[in-house]
Amino acid sequence: MKHEIFEKNSILLLVGILLVVSIGGLFQIAPLFWVDSTIEKVKGMRPYSPLELAGRDIYIREGCYTCHSQMIRTLRDEVERYGHYSLAAESMYDHPFQWGSKRTGPDLARVGGKYSDQWHVEHMTNPRAVVPESIMPSYPWLRERALDTYNITAKLTALKTIGVPYDEAMVTNAATDLAAQVQPDSKEAAELLKRYPKAKVADFDGDPSKVSELDAVIAYLQMLGTLVDFASFDASGPNLR
Ligand code: HEC
Repeated sequence: MKHEIFEKNSILLLVGILLVVSIGGLFQIAPLFWVDSTIEKVKGMRPYSPLELAGRDIYIREGCYTCHSQMIRTLRDEVERYGHYSLAAESMYDHPFQWGSKRTGPDLARVGGKYSDQWHVEHMTNPRAVVPESIMPSYPWLRERALDTYNITAKLTALKTIGVPYDEAMVTNAATDLAAQVQPDSKEAAELLKRYPKAKVADFDGDPSKVSELDAVIAYLQMLGTLVDFASFDASGPNLR
């Protein structure tokens, strides 16, 4: 019995185990040193506009992720219910990501464009007003509270530091871009759209007197899942070329 030596000597067994496990580990880990990115490149992905980013922060503050996931799995029932399965690229600018681990409510990865802004206003203020059987909490204060924007430039700068591709113009214009997203047809909104293609510009909460927290949350929700054009996306690979 050649392995008797391992069975009688626990230190030797330990060394043996470490050796075998590290060979297995190397096979998995080493190839990653030679690829630039494990995230498939997809057309259309851009960093969040300042208003969307502020809305995302409120989404996190209010704990929406405790009931909502943002990750459509590659299973038939999910794809039929929510749309194309989520791509890694779609959450690559998320710090932290919002994949979530629990669905008390539906997945929100592609909720953008599914409802009107007015629907979201009513739903966020009192979910029962539009979905009678809903158990989602009401968030009436979002509409009352003015959005705190004093640190928006700092937020973009921080994300830029960890690799989100915000350019100089995006950082310098953060505050104007934020305000512009609730001012349809303005000159500033046209500038915003050049920097953040497909951003939805609207007076989201229907109250033009101020930029509210609800404006930001709806801007964020309406963008979710809308950036990648799935009519031209081919999962079999040509988008890599
Ligand atoms: C206690 C769990 C819970 C929390 C917390 C919660 N939701 Fe919900 N949400 C639900 C449930 C259940 C539904 C389905 C019924 C409905 O539409 O109201 C839902 C539905 C939704 C929908 C409609 C989705 C669709 O496809 O029809 C949106 C949008 C939404 N929630 C956004 C939010 C946001 C934003 C927050 C945080 C401010 C939040 N939810 C917090 C439970 C929750």
